[in-house]
Amino acid sequence: MESSLPDLEAILLVGGQGTRLRPLTLGTPKPLLPTAGVPFLAHQLARARSFGVRRIVFATSYKAAMFEPAFGDGSAFGLSLEYMTEETPLGTGGAIRNAGEALDAGPDDPVLILNGDILSGHDIGAQVRLHRDRQAAVTLHLTEVDDPSRFGCVPTDEAGRVTAFLEKTPNPVTNRINAGCYVFTRSVIDSIPRDEVVSVERETFPGLIESGQLVMGYADRTYWLDVGTPSAYVQGSRDLVLGRLASPALPGPTGEYLALEGARVSPEAKIQDGTAVGARVVVEAGATVAGSVLSDDCVVEAGARVSDSVVGQRARICAGTVVRDAVIGDDAVVGPGNELQHGVRVWPGVELPERALRYSSDV
Ligand code: GDD
Ligand code: MG
Repeated sequence: MESSLPDLEAILLVGGQGTRLRPLTLGTPKPLLPTAGVPFLAHQLARARSFGVRRIVFATSYKAAMFEPAFGDGSAFGLSLEYMTEETPLGTGGAIRNAGEALDAGPDDPVLILNGDILSGHDIGAQVRLHRDRQAAVTLHLTEVDDPSRFGCVPTDEAGRVTAFLEKTPNPVTNRINAGCYVFTRSVIDSIPRDEVVSVERETFPGLIESGQLVMGYADRTYWLDVGTPSAYVQGSRDLVLGRLASPALPGPTGEYLALEGARVSPEAKIQDGTAVGARVVVEAGATVAGSVLSDDCVVEAGARVSDSVVGQRARICAGTVVRDAVIGDDAVVGPGNELQHGVRVWPGVELPERALRYSSDV
């Protein structure tokens, strides 16, 4: 694959609450949500590994105890993993400082830092080389989006030097945004105050720029997605199943759908557009499922139509029901003849009676 980086260490930021993904994140932290058949982070870990990263420190906070059982010491991934937990969330900067205690890197060495909710096809090796060549304090991966106001807006000069960092500004000056993957020179991590709540986006980056330190931007236009909202999460899973972003962690071949062991899909059901079918899922005859995530042990009954949606574990979509662009929580039951659309979220365990919710009369 792309050039490898021997001995590079990384910090993975995975302590956020994932509020925009509720109710999916009530029981499972965002980085562990099943994505194309494996926990989301498996894709990031495998990708980092493919660039030569060998040791990763997880910066955990929300549901911290769930990470180690999922990934252990990392040997299954060819990685060495450590877990550093904040008792109370310290923000992105405080988390980096806290996790930094577990690094072996020397003061001048580069350290890779990753937001734990990003799918990216960019060349991490090229980003680290730029950082080294320019002897930058920090080098940010930058991408372009249509609506930069939801991200960190990052203008640069012609040489790629970052001139400002404007987190979630209502008045973005460019479509170029912080893509959530940084190279820090180790000594810069140590300069973040310890045991304090610090935001790298609102404090550290603007502070470095203001004090004249070199912050570089590594800009590209490869595949990039922040999976922080339900529709983005579904899109990420779909893109991995379809092969729009290659992932060494995909547990099967790419194609219209990917089914885990024990799934029972009727030959008279239609499953397409990058649907991920979890373990022991049942899809009955005449059902249509497109571009969705079907979590382990859920059931889609005869004639139901599910698209662009997440169906939680053990949830049941009853006969003839339509679920479009919706999130169905774990153990929920959507009775027959319902029509759920437009970002509707059904909370875990809720049972929706027959024909309780409809947008049109023809369901
Ligand atoms: N350990 C720890 N502690 N991790 C945290 C904390 C904390 O207190 N707060 C957030 N995180 C982690 C989240 O789990 C996530 O992986 C990452 O830090 C970023 O937090 P998000 O909540 O996903 O932020 P965002 O998506 O609104 O914005 C960030 O990402 C954008 C790119 O996707 C910012 O970095 C933006 O500037 C950037 O454009
Ligand atoms: Mg995010």
